[in-house]
Amino acid sequence: MQDAAISVQGLVKRYGEIEAVAGIEFEVPKGELFGFLGPNGAGKSTTISMLCTLVRPTAGRAFVGGYDVVSERDAVRRHIGLVFQDTTLDGYLSAEQNLRLHAELYGMPREHVPARLQEVLEMMELWERRKTLVNHFSGGMKRRLEIARGLLHSPRVLFLDEPTIGLDPQTRSSIWSYIRRLETEQDITIFLTTHYMDEAEYCRRIAIMDRGRIVALDTPDALKASVGKDRVQIHTENDEATIVALRERFGLDAQIAENLVTFGVAEGEQFVPRLFAELGQQIRSVNLSRPSLDDVFMSYTGKTIRDAEASSTDQLRQMATMWKRR
Ligand SMILES: Nc1ncnc2c1ncn2[C@@H]1O[C@H](COP(=O)(O)OP(=O)(O)O)[C@@H](O)[C@H]1O
Ligand SMILES: [Mg+2]
Repeated sequence: MQDAAISVQGLVKRYGEIEAVAGIEFEVPKGELFGFLGPNGAGKSTTISMLCTLVRPTAGRAFVGGYDVVSERDAVRRHIGLVFQDTTLDGYLSAEQNLRLHAELYGMPREHVPARLQEVLEMMELWERRKTLVNHFSGGMKRRLEIARGLLHSPRVLFLDEPTIGLDPQTRSSIWSYIRRLETEQDITIFLTTHYMDEAEYCRRIAIMDRGRIVALDTPDALKASVGKDRVQIHTENDEATIVALRERFGLDAQIAENLVTFGVAEGEQFVPRLFAELGQQIRSVNLSRPSLDDVFMSYTGKTIRDAEASSTDQLRQMATMWKRR
Protein backbone atom coordinates (compact mmCIF):
# COMPACT_ATOMS: atom_id res chain seq x y z
CA MET A 1 0.00 0.00 0.00
CA GLN A 2 2.84 2.40 0.78
CA ASP A 3 4.03 1.84 -2.79
CA ALA A 4 0.75 2.99 -4.28
CA ALA A 5 0.59 6.56 -5.60
CA ILE A 6 -3.00 6.81 -4.35
CA SER A 7 -4.73 4.61 -1.82
CA VAL A 8 -8.32 5.17 -0.74
CA GLN A 9 -10.22 3.30 1.98
CA GLY A 10 -13.92 3.72 2.75
CA LEU A 11 -13.90 7.37 1.71
CA VAL A 12 -17.13 9.30 2.34
CA LYS A 13 -18.17 12.93 1.87
CA ARG A 14 -21.56 14.14 3.01
CA TYR A 15 -23.04 17.58 2.47
CA GLY A 16 -26.03 17.53 4.83
CA GLU A 17 -28.44 15.06 3.29
CA ILE A 18 -26.38 14.62 0.13
CA GLU A 19 -23.86 11.80 0.10
CA ALA A 20 -21.57 13.11 -2.65
CA VAL A 21 -19.10 10.24 -2.13
CA ALA A 22 -20.61 7.18 -0.51
CA GLY A 23 -17.71 4.98 0.62
CA ILE A 24 -15.20 4.27 -2.13
CA GLU A 25 -12.07 2.10 -2.19
CA PHE A 26 -9.33 1.94 -4.79
CA GLU A 27 -5.61 2.03 -5.34
CA VAL A 28 -3.55 3.57 -8.11
CA PRO A 29 -0.03 2.22 -8.61
CA LYS A 30 2.81 4.63 -9.38
CA GLY A 31 3.01 5.73 -13.00
CA GLU A 32 -0.52 4.74 -13.95
CA LEU A 33 -2.94 6.84 -16.00
CA PHE A 34 -6.11 6.26 -14.01
CA GLY A 35 -9.54 7.68 -14.77
CA PHE A 36 -12.85 8.28 -13.04
CA LEU A 37 -15.73 8.04 -15.49
CA GLY A 38 -19.23 9.07 -14.52
CA PRO A 39 -22.11 11.42 -15.25
CA ASN A 40 -22.35 14.92 -13.81
CA GLY A 41 -23.03 14.78 -10.10
CA ALA A 42 -21.46 11.32 -9.66
CA GLY A 43 -18.95 12.60 -7.10
CA LYS A 44 -15.82 12.82 -9.24
CA SER A 45 -14.81 16.38 -8.35
CA THR A 46 -15.57 15.79 -4.68
CA THR A 47 -13.22 12.80 -4.72
CA ILE A 48 -10.46 14.85 -6.35
CA SER A 49 -11.00 17.65 -3.83
CA MET A 50 -10.55 15.22 -0.94
CA LEU A 51 -7.43 13.68 -2.49
CA CYS A 52 -6.00 17.17 -3.03
CA THR A 53 -6.76 18.14 0.61
CA LEU A 54 -9.22 20.88 -0.39
CA VAL A 55 -12.20 19.12 1.16
CA ARG A 56 -12.10 17.17 4.39
CA PRO A 57 -13.53 13.63 4.20
CA THR A 58 -16.54 12.86 6.39
CA ALA A 59 -15.20 9.33 6.92
CA GLY A 60 -12.58 6.95 5.61
CA ARG A 61 -8.94 7.55 4.74
CA ALA A 62 -6.90 8.45 1.70
CA PHE A 63 -3.17 8.52 1.03
CA VAL A 64 -1.42 10.28 -1.81
CA GLY A 65 2.25 9.49 -2.32
CA GLY A 66 2.04 7.62 0.97
CA TYR A 67 0.86 10.73 2.89
CA ASP A 68 -2.45 11.01 4.72
CA VAL A 69 -4.66 13.67 3.12
CA VAL A 70 -5.96 14.80 6.53
CA SER A 71 -3.01 14.56 8.91
CA GLU A 72 -0.23 15.27 6.38
CA ARG A 73 -1.87 17.92 4.25
CA ASP A 74 1.24 19.95 3.51
CA ALA A 75 3.23 16.92 2.38
CA VAL A 76 0.37 15.87 0.09
CA ARG A 77 0.16 19.38 -1.38
CA ARG A 78 3.87 19.47 -2.14
CA HIS A 79 3.63 16.20 -4.06
CA ILE A 80 0.65 16.91 -6.25
CA GLY A 81 -0.28 19.09 -9.20
CA LEU A 82 -3.89 20.04 -9.78
CA VAL A 83 -5.85 21.24 -12.79
CA PHE A 84 -9.35 22.28 -11.79
CA GLN A 85 -12.52 21.72 -13.76
CA ASP A 86 -12.94 25.49 -14.11
CA THR A 87 -10.09 27.68 -15.26
CA THR A 88 -8.11 29.47 -12.55
CA LEU A 89 -5.63 31.36 -14.75
CA ASP A 90 -5.23 35.11 -14.50
CA GLY A 91 -6.28 36.43 -17.90
CA TYR A 92 -4.54 39.77 -17.41
CA LEU A 93 -1.16 38.13 -16.94
CA SER A 94 0.98 36.50 -19.60
CA ALA A 95 1.45 32.74 -19.72
CA GLU A 96 4.89 33.12 -18.19
CA GLN A 97 3.68 35.43 -15.41
CA ASN A 98 0.98 32.93 -14.47
CA LEU A 99 3.61 30.25 -14.08
CA ARG A 100 5.97 32.51 -12.10
CA LEU A 101 3.16 33.31 -9.69
CA HIS A 102 2.56 29.61 -9.20
CA ALA A 103 6.28 28.96 -8.63
CA GLU A 104 6.25 31.56 -5.88
CA LEU A 105 3.11 30.17 -4.26
CA TYR A 106 4.79 26.79 -4.18
CA GLY A 107 8.03 28.20 -2.82
CA MET A 108 10.07 26.77 -5.67
CA PRO A 109 13.77 27.61 -5.29
CA ARG A 110 14.35 30.68 -7.51
CA GLU A 111 17.32 29.17 -9.34
CA HIS A 112 15.25 26.18 -10.53
CA VAL A 113 12.38 28.19 -11.96
CA PRO A 114 13.67 29.39 -15.38
CA ALA A 115 14.78 25.97 -16.64
CA ARG A 116 11.68 24.17 -15.39
CA LEU A 117 9.43 26.91 -16.73
CA GLN A 118 10.93 26.51 -20.18
CA GLU A 119 10.69 22.72 -19.93
CA VAL A 120 6.97 22.63 -19.11
CA LEU A 121 6.08 25.34 -21.64
CA GLU A 122 7.96 23.47 -24.34
CA MET A 123 6.28 20.23 -23.32
CA MET A 124 2.88 21.86 -23.88
CA GLU A 125 4.14 23.69 -27.00
CA LEU A 126 3.54 27.15 -25.55
CA TRP A 127 7.11 28.40 -25.22
CA GLU A 128 6.81 30.70 -28.26
CA ARG A 129 3.63 32.18 -26.76
CA ARG A 130 4.95 32.74 -23.25
CA LYS A 131 4.66 36.55 -23.45
CA THR A 132 1.04 36.48 -24.65
CA LEU A 133 -1.73 37.55 -22.26
CA VAL A 134 -3.82 34.55 -21.26
CA ASN A 135 -6.99 36.44 -22.26
CA HIS A 136 -5.79 36.14 -25.84
CA PHE A 137 -5.38 32.36 -25.64
CA SER A 138 -7.85 29.88 -27.13
CA GLY A 139 -9.62 27.41 -24.83
CA GLY A 140 -7.22 24.65 -25.79
CA MET A 141 -4.15 26.82 -25.13
CA LYS A 142 -5.50 27.78 -21.71
CA ARG A 143 -5.95 24.12 -20.82
CA ARG A 144 -2.40 23.34 -21.95
CA LEU A 145 -1.10 26.24 -19.88
CA GLU A 146 -2.98 24.94 -16.86
CA ILE A 147 -1.44 21.52 -17.36
CA ALA A 148 2.00 23.14 -17.69
CA ARG A 149 1.34 25.01 -14.44
CA GLY A 150 0.22 21.80 -12.73
CA LEU A 151 3.54 20.23 -13.72
CA LEU A 152 5.79 23.17 -12.85
CA HIS A 153 6.79 22.12 -9.34
CA SER A 154 7.50 18.54 -10.55
CA PRO A 155 4.63 16.79 -8.75
CA ARG A 156 4.59 13.01 -8.29
CA VAL A 157 0.86 12.85 -8.94
CA LEU A 158 -1.08 15.07 -11.33
CA PHE A 159 -4.84 15.49 -10.85
CA LEU A 160 -6.87 16.63 -13.83
CA ASP A 161 -10.56 17.32 -13.26
CA GLU A 162 -12.41 17.11 -16.61
CA PRO A 163 -9.37 18.34 -18.56
CA THR A 164 -11.26 18.57 -21.84
CA ILE A 165 -14.65 19.82 -20.73
CA GLY A 166 -16.14 22.47 -22.99
CA LEU A 167 -13.51 22.04 -25.71
CA ASP A 168 -14.30 21.18 -29.31
CA PRO A 169 -13.55 17.59 -30.43
CA GLN A 170 -10.35 18.52 -32.25
CA THR A 171 -8.93 20.40 -29.28
CA ARG A 172 -10.00 17.58 -26.97
CA SER A 173 -8.01 15.11 -28.99
CA SER A 174 -4.96 17.40 -29.02
CA ILE A 175 -5.13 17.75 -25.21
CA TRP A 176 -5.23 13.97 -25.04
CA SER A 177 -2.11 13.63 -27.11
CA TYR A 178 -0.32 15.80 -24.51
CA ILE A 179 -1.72 13.74 -21.64
CA ARG A 180 -0.60 10.50 -23.28
CA ARG A 181 2.82 11.95 -23.88
CA LEU A 182 3.11 12.79 -20.19
CA GLU A 183 2.15 9.23 -19.39
CA THR A 184 4.94 7.75 -21.48
CA GLU A 185 7.66 10.38 -21.12
CA GLN A 186 7.32 11.57 -17.53
CA ASP A 187 7.69 9.68 -14.32
CA ILE A 188 4.31 10.71 -12.99
CA THR A 189 0.98 9.24 -11.89
CA ILE A 190 -2.06 10.83 -13.53
CA PHE A 191 -5.53 10.76 -12.01
CA LEU A 192 -8.23 12.31 -14.14
CA THR A 193 -11.99 12.51 -14.34
CA THR A 194 -14.18 12.64 -17.39
CA HIS A 195 -17.76 12.13 -18.40
CA TYR A 196 -16.70 11.39 -22.00
CA MET A 197 -16.70 7.64 -22.57
CA ASP A 198 -14.46 7.82 -25.60
CA GLU A 199 -11.80 9.57 -23.51
CA ALA A 200 -11.93 7.06 -20.70
CA GLU A 201 -10.65 4.52 -23.23
CA TYR A 202 -7.23 6.18 -23.10
CA CYS A 203 -6.79 5.43 -19.42
CA ARG A 204 -4.97 2.32 -18.35
CA ARG A 205 -7.67 1.58 -15.80
CA ILE A 206 -10.91 3.31 -15.00
CA ALA A 207 -13.34 3.40 -12.14
CA ILE A 208 -16.93 3.91 -13.22
CA MET A 209 -18.73 6.12 -10.75
CA ASP A 210 -22.44 6.67 -10.24
CA ARG A 211 -24.15 8.47 -7.37
CA GLY A 212 -21.12 8.47 -5.11
CA ARG A 213 -20.19 4.84 -5.64
CA ILE A 214 -17.67 3.00 -7.76
CA VAL A 215 -19.75 0.48 -9.69
CA ALA A 216 -16.89 -1.11 -11.65
CA LEU A 217 -13.11 -0.80 -11.87
CA ASP A 218 -10.76 -2.39 -14.42
CA THR A 219 -9.07 -1.79 -17.76
CA PRO A 220 -11.45 -0.50 -20.45
CA ASP A 221 -11.06 -3.75 -22.41
CA ALA A 222 -11.79 -5.97 -19.43
CA LEU A 223 -14.84 -3.90 -18.54
CA LYS A 224 -16.23 -4.15 -22.05
CA ALA A 225 -15.52 -7.87 -22.20
CA SER A 226 -17.39 -8.31 -18.92
CA VAL A 227 -20.58 -7.04 -20.57
CA GLY A 228 -20.33 -9.82 -23.18
CA LYS A 229 -23.27 -8.54 -25.17
CA ASP A 230 -23.89 -6.31 -28.15
CA ARG A 231 -26.31 -3.45 -27.76
CA VAL A 232 -29.42 -3.34 -29.92
CA GLN A 233 -31.58 -0.23 -30.09
CA ILE A 234 -34.80 -0.26 -32.05
CA HIS A 235 -37.26 2.40 -33.05
CA THR A 236 -40.76 0.95 -33.19
CA GLU A 237 -44.40 1.98 -33.54
CA ASN A 238 -45.21 0.81 -30.05
CA ASP A 239 -42.44 0.65 -27.47
CA GLU A 240 -44.49 -0.91 -24.68
CA ALA A 241 -45.75 -3.74 -26.89
CA THR A 242 -42.22 -4.27 -28.21
CA ILE A 243 -40.80 -4.62 -24.71
CA VAL A 244 -43.49 -7.19 -23.90
CA ALA A 245 -42.86 -9.06 -27.17
CA LEU A 246 -39.11 -9.13 -26.54
CA ARG A 247 -39.71 -10.65 -23.14
CA GLU A 248 -42.29 -13.20 -24.28
CA ARG A 249 -40.70 -14.31 -27.53
CA PHE A 250 -37.01 -13.98 -26.81
CA GLY A 251 -36.74 -13.85 -23.03
CA LEU A 252 -34.98 -10.47 -23.33
CA ASP A 253 -35.16 -7.72 -20.76
CA ALA A 254 -35.39 -4.41 -22.65
CA GLN A 255 -35.49 -0.82 -21.41
CA ILE A 256 -36.16 2.57 -22.90
CA ALA A 257 -32.87 4.45 -23.19
CA GLU A 258 -32.42 7.63 -25.18
CA ASN A 259 -36.02 7.18 -26.33
CA LEU A 260 -35.28 3.84 -27.99
CA VAL A 261 -36.08 0.29 -26.95
CA THR A 262 -32.67 -0.95 -25.83
CA PHE A 263 -31.37 -4.35 -24.87
CA GLY A 264 -28.22 -6.46 -24.87
CA VAL A 265 -27.82 -9.70 -26.74
CA ALA A 266 -24.90 -12.00 -27.53
CA GLU A 267 -23.96 -12.11 -31.24
CA GLY A 268 -26.22 -9.27 -32.29
CA GLU A 269 -25.66 -9.67 -36.05
CA GLN A 270 -27.21 -13.10 -35.97
CA PHE A 271 -30.03 -11.96 -33.75
CA VAL A 272 -31.25 -9.01 -35.82
CA PRO A 273 -32.71 -11.07 -38.73
CA ARG A 274 -34.64 -13.18 -36.21
CA LEU A 275 -35.89 -10.00 -34.61
CA PHE A 276 -37.46 -8.82 -37.87
CA ALA A 277 -38.93 -12.25 -38.58
CA GLU A 278 -40.34 -13.04 -35.15
CA LEU A 279 -40.98 -9.84 -33.17
CA GLY A 280 -44.45 -9.25 -34.60
CA GLN A 281 -44.08 -5.46 -34.25
CA GLN A 282 -43.29 -2.80 -36.83
CA ILE A 283 -39.60 -1.88 -36.66
CA ARG A 284 -38.63 1.50 -38.11
CA SER A 285 -34.90 1.27 -37.56
CA VAL A 286 -32.29 -0.86 -35.83
CA ASN A 287 -28.94 0.13 -34.45
CA LEU A 288 -26.44 -2.53 -33.41
CA SER A 289 -23.24 -1.72 -31.51
CA ARG A 290 -20.36 -3.55 -29.85
CA PRO A 291 -20.11 -3.15 -26.09
CA SER A 292 -18.82 0.30 -25.22
CA LEU A 293 -18.02 1.80 -21.85
CA ASP A 294 -21.54 3.19 -21.89
CA ASP A 295 -22.85 -0.38 -22.04
CA VAL A 296 -20.67 -1.16 -19.07
CA PHE A 297 -22.21 1.81 -17.29
CA MET A 298 -25.67 0.65 -18.35
CA SER A 299 -25.13 -2.93 -17.27
CA TYR A 300 -24.18 -1.74 -13.78
CA THR A 301 -26.65 1.11 -13.35
CA GLY A 302 -29.56 0.33 -15.71
CA LYS A 303 -29.20 3.64 -17.58
CA THR A 304 -26.89 5.26 -20.11
CA ILE A 305 -24.52 8.04 -19.09
CA ARG A 306 -26.42 10.51 -21.25
CA ASP A 307 -29.71 9.59 -19.56
CA ALA A 308 -28.04 9.88 -16.17
CA GLU A 309 -26.88 13.39 -17.09
CA ALA A 310 -30.31 14.30 -18.41
CA SER A 311 -31.99 13.17 -15.19
CA SER A 312 -29.59 15.17 -13.05
CA THR A 313 -30.23 18.21 -15.28
CA ASP A 314 -33.97 17.61 -14.89
CA GLN A 315 -33.57 17.51 -11.13
CA LEU A 316 -31.74 20.82 -11.24
CA ARG A 317 -34.47 22.29 -13.41
CA GLN A 318 -37.15 21.04 -11.02
CA MET A 319 -35.27 22.52 -8.10
CA ALA A 320 -34.95 25.84 -9.92
CA THR A 321 -38.69 25.85 -10.63
CA MET A 322 -39.47 25.06 -7.00
CA TRP A 323 -37.26 27.95 -5.91
CA LYS A 324 -39.03 30.35 -8.23
CA ARG A 325 -42.44 29.27 -6.88
CA ARG A 326 -41.49 29.91 -3.25
N1 LIG B 1 -19.95 22.14 -1.62
C1 LIG B 1 -21.03 21.36 -1.84
N2 LIG B 1 -22.15 21.51 -1.11
C2 LIG B 1 -23.23 20.75 -1.32
N3 LIG B 1 -23.32 19.78 -2.24
C3 LIG B 1 -22.26 19.57 -3.02
C4 LIG B 1 -21.04 20.34 -2.86
N4 LIG B 1 -20.13 19.89 -3.76
C5 LIG B 1 -20.75 18.91 -4.45
N5 LIG B 1 -22.00 18.70 -4.00
C6 LIG B 1 -22.96 17.67 -4.50
O1 LIG B 1 -22.30 16.43 -4.49
C7 LIG B 1 -22.64 15.65 -5.63
C8 LIG B 1 -21.39 15.28 -6.40
O2 LIG B 1 -20.83 16.44 -6.99
P1 LIG B 1 -19.46 16.43 -7.79
O3 LIG B 1 -18.42 15.78 -6.98
O4 LIG B 1 -19.20 17.83 -8.23
O5 LIG B 1 -19.82 15.51 -9.04
P2 LIG B 1 -19.09 15.38 -10.47
O6 LIG B 1 -17.76 16.04 -10.38
O7 LIG B 1 -19.01 13.91 -10.68
O8 LIG B 1 -19.99 16.04 -11.46
C9 LIG B 1 -23.62 16.49 -6.43
O9 LIG B 1 -24.93 16.10 -6.06
C10 LIG B 1 -23.33 17.90 -5.96
O10 LIG B 1 -24.47 18.71 -6.08
MG1 LIG C 1 -16.98 17.55 -11.58
